[in-house]
Amino acid sequence: MARTDQAGGFDVMMVALERLFPTSRDWVCGRAHGSTLEVGIGTGLNLSHYAEDVRLVGLDPDPAMLAGARRRAAELGHPATLVEGDAMSLPFPDESFDTVVSTFVLCGVPDDRAAVAEMYRVLTPGGRLLLADHVIGGPAPIRWGQRLLEAVTVRHGEYFTRRPINHVRDLGFEMVETERLGLGIIEHVDATKPVR
Ligand SMILES: C[S@@+](CC[C@H](N)C(=O)[O-])C[C@H]1O[C@@H](n2cnc3c(N)ncnc32)[C@H](O)[C@@H]1O
Repeated sequence: MARTDQAGGFDVMMVALERLFPTSRDWVCGRAHGSTLEVGIGTGLNLSHYAEDVRLVGLDPDPAMLAGARRRAAELGHPATLVEGDAMSLPFPDESFDTVVSTFVLCGVPDDRAAVAEMYRVLTPGGRLLLADHVIGGPAPIRWGQRLLEAVTVRHGEYFTRRPINHVRDLGFEMVETERLGLGIIEHVDATKPVR
């Protein structure tokens, strides 16, 4: 399949899934301010959810996804800078962003703790971390189902039993607001890097 088709297929899938998380993009992107890094920008489905004064750098390891994001940014007239890179080894100096955003990415990164640690490193003191992802659900039957599903998807690098918020707490972020939706399967996190 051509790379353009891959990115197009991804968009159709994500837009269908957005019924499960209709508020996530606004919840996360609406809180971004200043110089903002979006980790795992995909095809740029968050672009239209940022305020106009946000200066956005979008990162993704997949050139086909970045090409989709470039097309979407051009269509929207969005001045985002797009770079190839990995969440676990961000190609930016310490303390270089006011905000780091990541939506539906930590469920598929090999080491989500390393990715959150990198997010901490590149944030300025007082900077904001904004996450949305699917996580292990609340009710036991949901959790059992997710464990079964993960047994299959893990070989494709997709996890259903993670809680990135635990890494956010352990790494020393201060919580501003969190919420869980859809039987606890969707989690939103707003946290700040402390000023020491
Ligand atoms: C499900 S998509 C979500 C895309 C976008 N954030 C959104 O909400 O529409 C996951 C994205 O994470 C990217 N990704 C996968 N592994 C990554 C990594 N190690 N570092 C950064 N991004 C990664 C994929 O290429 C893909 O674009």
